[in-house]
Amino acid sequence: MKEVYEFLKSSGVFYLATIDNDKPRVRPFGAINIYNDKIYLQTGKIKPVSKQIEKNNNVEICAFKDGKWIRVEAKLIRDESREAKVSMLEANPELKAMYSADDANTEVLYMENVKATISSFTDAPKVIEF
Ligand SMILES: Cc1cc2nc3c(=O)[nH]c(=O)nc-3n(C[C@H](O)[C@H](O)[C@H](O)COP(=O)(O)O)c2cc1C
Repeated sequence: MKEVYEFLKSSGVFYLATIDNDKPRVRPFGAINIYNDKIYLQTGKIKPVSKQIEKNNNVEICAFKDGKWIRVEAKLIRDESREAKVSMLEANPELKAMYSADDANTEVLYMENVKATISSFTDAPKVIEF
């Protein structure tokens, strides 16, 4: 779990794909946190990405760093607890310019049923499941 978090965090930017009816949608994401032994992402409830996840929470993430790439397959579960939001904002303070733990928009979601694969052109793929 830590390895997946570290890869995504140190990538700086990772790309989150969702399902919009029968079409894929992908966009850059960067906010990430570990809270209660789970990997969390952050978004705004007003965004299409949030509405897509609400309808279908199967997502995939891709990132590339230092000759290796990661593909993370997961379900995202919304966590409405204030503590989870505060933890996200403390870990990613740049978010505080746009979000607060008490606004109606801030959304944090944790990954469940995760299957991550780290690949490169030289090494065998490494699969991490949690
Ligand atoms: C480098 C980078 C990192 C970003 N990180 C996030 C993020 O963690 N959460 C988020 O909601 N939006 C983030 N954004 C903005 C989203 O990519 C943008 O709002 C996007 O349009 C959301 O997808 P949607 O239009 O399908 O809702 C980031 C943008 C960039 C350029």
